[in-house]
Amino acid sequence: MPEIIVPATSANMGPGFDSLGLAVNLYLKVRISKQSDQWIVHHPFDKRVPTDEKNMIVLSALTVDASIQPHEIFVESEIPLARGLGSSSSAIIAGLMLGNELSESINLSKQQILDRAVKIEGHPDNVSPAIFGGIVVGGPDPQKKGNFLTYQIDTPDDYLPIAVIPDRELATSESREVLPTSLDRRKAVRNNAESSLLLAALFKHDWDNAARLLESDQFHEVYRTKLVPELKTVRNLCHSVGIFGSYLSGAGTTVMIIAKKDQADFLLDQLNKTEKLRGCKIKLLEFNLSGANISE
Ligand code: HSE
Repeated sequence: MPEIIVPATSANMGPGFDSLGLAVNLYLKVRISKQSDQWIVHHPFDKRVPTDEKNMIVLSALTVDASIQPHEIFVESEIPLARGLGSSSSAIIAGLMLGNELSESINLSKQQILDRAVKIEGHPDNVSPAIFGGIVVGGPDPQKKGNFLTYQIDTPDDYLPIAVIPDRELATSESREVLPTSLDRRKAVRNNAESSLLLAALFKHDWDNAARLLESDQFHEVYRTKLVPELKTVRNLCHSVGIFGSYLSGAGTTVMIIAKKDQADFLLDQLNKTEKLRGCKIKLLEFNLSGANISE
């Protein structure tokens, strides 16, 4: 039975709001079982997540080809819902790949899956790394409406992602509501410069400067801090021990730190000892480099 595997992602890397994200080694897995009279989705989530054709995975599959036959599918997931780790993007991509697999007339390329996924999700910063793996920058193709350009960037060998995951959900819609509708020009110019610098540093493998630039967002963190106070706690703790590289992952509530491997155990210990982070899951992760795939 074919199995679709899609990694979790961490979007909004520093000043790359809505455009820059990375894939990590937590996975959504969808096993395609037998054809059925109606869609049956077995999943590990609570009752809010539909088990029929209203499930997001099935809805996405039907956007590829509305004529595909219903199937029974089995979902496993290590990606917590509504925590800024791309759970909805992973579900959308798994659905598009499911539709692609079951359709007799359609055979989408990864690029076409990306364009469709962005159309459903609204922005490319989670879906791009989920499809391609690694660190990916993505944005609209200025000349081709509805198409997205992406560039994959090497991940550093001597750094790894550490996720501080609060025991609290935050819907992206709620987290976007606190953002201002316009941005002061000086802030926009500064964000533009810092985001260009971050990309240059990433492409040059200058991870020391990249880690510092990861803390230079002007678009969202300051407004979302009231929803995710853990960001300040984590960043203050990291700075007190001379570590840079923390940012609010996606719309929250997860805070991500891109830390040097040789500092990771020490940092993990400090994070675990911090009273204000009690209840958070603190996970040492790895970059996922291959992105979504389907195994027969
Ligand atoms: N870039 C998005 C946001 C990620 O910050 O709202 C969450 O989907």
